[in-house]
Amino acid sequence: MVRTLSHSQARAFYDRFGAKQDLQGWYEDAAVDDLVAHLSLGDARHVAEFGCGTGRLAARLLASQLPPWARYTAADQSATMVGLARDRTRGDSTRCQVTQGDGTPRWPVDDGAADRLLSTYVTDLLSDEDITALLTDAWRALAPGGLLGLVSLTRGEGVLSRVVTGLWETAHRLNPVWVGGCRPLALRGYLPDRWTVTHHRVLTVLGLGSEVLVARKVDAGSAAA
Ligand SMILES: C[S@@+](CC[C@H](N)C(=O)[O-])C[C@H]1O[C@@H](n2cnc3c(N)ncnc32)[C@H](O)[C@@H]1O
Repeated sequence: MVRTLSHSQARAFYDRFGAKQDLQGWYEDAAVDDLVAHLSLGDARHVAEFGCGTGRLAARLLASQLPPWARYTAADQSATMVGLARDRTRGDSTRCQVTQGDGTPRWPVDDGAADRLLSTYVTDLLSDEDITALLTDAWRALAPGGLLGLVSLTRGEGVLSRVVTGLWETAHRLNPVWVGGCRPLALRGYLPDRWTVTHHRVLTVLGLGSEVLVARKVDAGSAAA
């Protein structure tokens, strides 16, 4: 079984790491751009984000992708990250709420209240049990027809990626803190069958792989989002 950081260890790490998180953009941005392109955000009404970090994605979507009436509810368990995200979205404070979670893998909205759920580079640091709980809770939090959008570290493609992934996994096994608690995952395998996958892609940048997964909640009473 893979050893992951406890909630308190992850909180302590990201409280220290803070704004340095945004330096990861060199390998994250292409995958996040791909996610954003597959979420039909132009008609979103309420977006919820789990593990929002510095609020970089929230600020970007509020500024340029979401309609003016759309609300954004973001959560993170790190007080440092919540402070940074609140500062960053201050200009949109009537539409955007940033809350501090206690580590519980739960989307920060009432049942069926969101029509888009997002989480980028967070599942890869959660335990298997927490990933399963977060994806189970997504069904509760999402309105029928809504979209769940995730990005996670994964095993990339090509020889360089095999080397980089091997080194990363070794570092994670020796001490997960060295890599911010994150390890390459195969996220698609955690998603229950009842979801309808609408987009699934692996992007590799300098050997680091990112898995982009978008899935729709389609059930008996579902209308298209
Ligand atoms: C690698 S950072 C990614 C931040 C941001 N989503 C991004 O893509 O830049 C992981 C974030 O998840 C948060 N996090 C980790 N475990 C969490 C949990 N159990 N509940 C809420 N947030 C968590 C951390 O505090 C940190 O801000």
